[in-house]
Amino acid sequence: MEREMIVVLDFGGQYNQLIARRVRECSVYCEVHPYNISMDELKKMNPKGIIFTGGPNSVYGEGSPLCDPEIFDMGVPILGICYGSQLMAHMLGGKVATAPVSEYGKTEVDVDTTAALFEGVSGKTICWMSHTDYIEKAPADFKVTAHTPVCPVAAMENPVRRLYAVQFHPEVMHTRQGKQMLQNFVIQVCGCKGDWRMDSFVETQIKAIREKVGDGKVLCALSGGVDSSVAAVLLAKAVGKQLTCVFVDHGLLRKSEGDEVEAVFGPEGEYDLNFIRVNAQERFYARLAGVTEPEQKRKIIGEEFIRVFEEEAKKIGAVDFFVQGTIYPDVIESGLGKSAVIKSHHNVGGLPDYVDFKEIIEPLRLLFKDEVRKAGLELGIPEYLVYRQPFPGPGLGVRIIGEVTADKVKMVQEADFIFREEILKSGIDKDLGQYFAALTNMRSVGCMGDERTYDYAVALRAVTTSDFMTAEAAELPWDLIGRVSSRIVNEVKGVNRVLVDVTGKPPATIELE
Ligand code: XMP
Repeated sequence: MEREMIVVLDFGGQYNQLIARRVRECSVYCEVHPYNISMDELKKMNPKGIIFTGGPNSVYGEGSPLCDPEIFDMGVPILGICYGSQLMAHMLGGKVATAPVSEYGKTEVDVDTTAALFEGVSGKTICWMSHTDYIEKAPADFKVTAHTPVCPVAAMENPVRRLYAVQFHPEVMHTRQGKQMLQNFVIQVCGCKGDWRMDSFVETQIKAIREKVGDGKVLCALSGGVDSSVAAVLLAKAVGKQLTCVFVDHGLLRKSEGDEVEAVFGPEGEYDLNFIRVNAQERFYARLAGVTEPEQKRKIIGEEFIRVFEEEAKKIGAVDFFVQGTIYPDVIESGLGKSAVIKSHHNVGGLPDYVDFKEIIEPLRLLFKDEVRKAGLELGIPEYLVYRQPFPGPGLGVRIIGEVTADKVKMVQEADFIFREEILKSGIDKDLGQYFAALTNMRSVGCMGDERTYDYAVALRAVTTSDFMTAEAAELPWDLIGRVSSRIVNEVKGVNRVLVDVTGKPPATIELE
């Protein structure tokens, strides 16, 4: 049976993978490809539909990305979004110009509910706009199907040629009925059945990995976190004992975490894996001594990780492939897409320039966290592992502001343990995306038992989020904060103050560094 596929053509917008993810949410397989993919390659994929993404350019600008005009005659439905809609208008005889008023943000749009894209959508609906150009005039054979007071062509269609376009972004959450619009395109217009499931992703990946690896040896960087655990089990299913998982205890793990990971993946655990634990605490502390700049800390930890893996690979001998559990938000925030670098995620941008492996395999690179979890469940990984809260590769290194020392690690481990224990006891853990304690670099005066103290402040961070790209500070019950705070100052040596971080992302990030 041939798999149904929607192809997203990437014109450089920031929501490209989000579009793909929304299509996958309609249970239709979707891949993102560059806008200038050849017609031959595109036809070979036999897409049921094509989506043009947004992008930063003006269609009439010099050197702006255009598509092959033949694409409009393929007979395959096309949906143009933002720049993609302007491109369609521009190439098919409409007029695109700088809008007299740029629209940005949530905007009420009047839609024609008899149009295929807007079936089941309210006549006035809130959509996310972000444009300085607009379609001034739709091509002659197109019908305008939506507008706003300042945007005469907020959507248009030519049902005979199966061409559709929207100026706004249906893929972002702020477009309240965006999911319905994409579903209308994918299911009604393209005629997809919507029978794709995450198990198909798992199957396809296993097959592709087997083909790539052949009888080669593979080393997987396993941290025990959700992403690397899913990657490891996927690889184990694909290549069995050709795989060795290396777990590096860099001395920046949460309290007891090293032993917990070993209990699950080690020889006594539930998986039949080659498992190596490397206790490398001292070596990481030595490299981090005196370093305070967050990006430098991340790079050092990333580099040291790779060096340990290379050494282990040499011991095993003839290892060609290195696997990591990189997921999509890691790629984007490390600036490997076109966006600015927020942080070098240690499993992507934190890699040193030279890596002594033939190839790096990142089977989860295109998935969002919740999709990784679905893949984990498909692979039969127990729920308690799949729903673990994320823990970043650089570990407590990015939860200790300023220089990392063994003493500070101990402080944050103990404080974090208390916080997590109290959250679990209170039963609110399921409502939180991520929660942890971090050590600020601030010391302040306190008094304990009539003595003056001059100690560190711990910050409690708890957020709700669906995809970790944005997050909101969670409202923790006051009595819980009180309990945690008094336990921390009483039980953790070197800490005399507890603060609560109430900032969202943006403007903050989830981790402190
Ligand atoms: P930020 O702090 O960027 O974090 O808002 C977003 C999510 O990513 C996790 N994170 C990382 N995960 N390697 C990882 O595997 C990293 O270097 C890294 N840095 C942040 C973070 O815990 C949160 O879930």
